[in-house]
Amino acid sequence: MDYSKSNRRCCKGIAFVKPLRTFPKNFIWGAATSAYQIEGAYDEDGRGLSTWDVFCRQPGRIRENHTGEIACDHFHLYKDDVKLMRDIGLKAYRFSISWSRILPEGEGAINPKGFDFYSRLIDELIENGITPYVTLFHWDLPDNLEKKYGGWRSKEVSKRFADYAGIVSDRLSDRVKNWMTINEIACFTVLPHKLDRYAPAKVEPPKIVNQTIHNALYGHGLAVRAIRDNADTDVKIGIVENLAVTYPVLDLKKDIDAASKCFKDKNQAILFPLFKGNYSRQMIKKLGADMPDYTEEEMKVIAEPVDFIGYNIYGGSPVRHDDVNVYEVLPYPKGYPKTDMDWAVSPRSIYYALKYTKEYFGDIPVYLTENGMASDDDETQSEEIFDLDRLEYLRTHLDMSLKAIQDGFNLKGYFVWSFMDNFEWDWGFTKRFGIVRVNYSTMHRQRKLSSYFYENVIKSGSIL
Ligand code: NOJ
Repeated sequence: MDYSKSNRRCCKGIAFVKPLRTFPKNFIWGAATSAYQIEGAYDEDGRGLSTWDVFCRQPGRIRENHTGEIACDHFHLYKDDVKLMRDIGLKAYRFSISWSRILPEGEGAINPKGFDFYSRLIDELIENGITPYVTLFHWDLPDNLEKKYGGWRSKEVSKRFADYAGIVSDRLSDRVKNWMTINEIACFTVLPHKLDRYAPAKVEPPKIVNQTIHNALYGHGLAVRAIRDNADTDVKIGIVENLAVTYPVLDLKKDIDAASKCFKDKNQAILFPLFKGNYSRQMIKKLGADMPDYTEEEMKVIAEPVDFIGYNIYGGSPVRHDDVNVYEVLPYPKGYPKTDMDWAVSPRSIYYALKYTKEYFGDIPVYLTENGMASDDDETQSEEIFDLDRLEYLRTHLDMSLKAIQDGFNLKGYFVWSFMDNFEWDWGFTKRFGIVRVNYSTMHRQRKLSSYFYENVIKSGSIL
C-alpha cells in the first residue's frame, strides 16, 4: 500500500476531527542520529580512529561483533537520506560531528575533507528546508586522545574538546545556529569506567569515574565559551542529558513532592552542577574521598549559562511518598509494557521531567532531543512495516509533551530517535529505533508506518 496517498487523505480527514490540540506554531519538529551510529566510511577522507572503532574490534564486546565501520553508509547516502527527511516533513535534523573526521588526532592538524562532508550535508539540509542541530560530541572520542592523555580522565581532554568546539563552530556557524556540546555524559564515563560497557571500557576506581564526569562537565563549559568566542553571534548553545527522570505514581501532592525530591537526589552529579555551579553538600558527604578534584573556577565554567537544555527521555522511575524515607521508587511489575530494549513505557516521564526542570532550574527552554523506542520490526514484512507499537509510543509521548506545553512548561521542540535504524552501540544492529527501516545488506531505506504518523503530526501541528 502506498501510504503517501493514504497519508494525504488522513491529513485532510484529521482537520475535521474536533477538538484538535495544537502545538505552538514555532514548535521544532525533528529527528535525531549520531555520527558513529550512521555514517560508516570509518577510514575515508582522512578520518582518524575513535575509541568506538577500537572498542568494536574487541571480540565479544558488541552483539554479533557488529561495528560502525559501514553502519548505514550515510556518509555516501546522505543526499537520499535528506530527501527522505523532506518527504517526512522534518523541520529539523539533529546529527553529530565525528571529532576524528575533523581532527584525526583529536588535536593538531585539521582535516579539510572532514569539514567538506559536514558542509555538504548542512547545505543539503538547508536547501531542503531542514534546520541543522549539531551535537559536537556523541561518544566517539579520537583514539589518540585516549592513548595520549587517558581520555576523559584528564582535563587536557576537556581543553582539547573546547579547541575542537571552537574550530568547528568558527567554520560552520554561518549556517548552523543550534549547537549541542555533549550527549549523555554518563554513557562515556560511568558505562565504560564503572560498568565495563561502551568505549573505552576499562573499569576504574570510583574517584576516577567521578573525575571523568567532572572533566566532561568542565569540557562542556569550556566549549560553551569557545563557541561564544568563535561562532557568529546569533547561535544558541545547549547540552544534552539523559537525566534521571522521576514521576509520581499518583498525581497527588504528596507523591508529586516525593518524586520531586527523588529527582533532586538522582541528578546531583550532572544536572545540578550544570545549573547551580556547585556540587551539593549531600553529594560531597556521600562521595567523601571519591569526590573528583576540582576548583571553584572550574565550577563557574561548568555553570556557564546555556541557551537551552536537551533531554533524551525514554522512560523514568515511578515514585510514591514514604513516611520514613520521604520517597520510594516502585519496581515495574512483570508484564508491564516494555520496548524491545526492555525499557518500561512511561509517557508521564516527559511531563514530570519538564515540571521538575522548571521547579529547580527555572524557565530554561527545553528540547526533547531524543524520544522513541526500539521495536522488533518484522523483517519479513518487506512491503510495509506496521510498527504500531512505535506509532502509539510516539503518540502518547507527544500527547504528554503537548500537555506540558499547555501547562506552561517551556518545551521548544521534539526530535524522534531515530530518523532511521542504526548501530545501537553494544547491541550492534540488533535493535531498531528508526521511523525508517534500513536493510543493512542492500542499504535500502523504507519508511515505517510511524513515519507517516509523524508526517501527519508535523503537517497538522496537532494531535487528537
Ligand atoms: C541515547 C543515545 O544518545 C543514542 O545514541 C542511543 O542510540 C539512544 N539513546 C537509544 O539507546
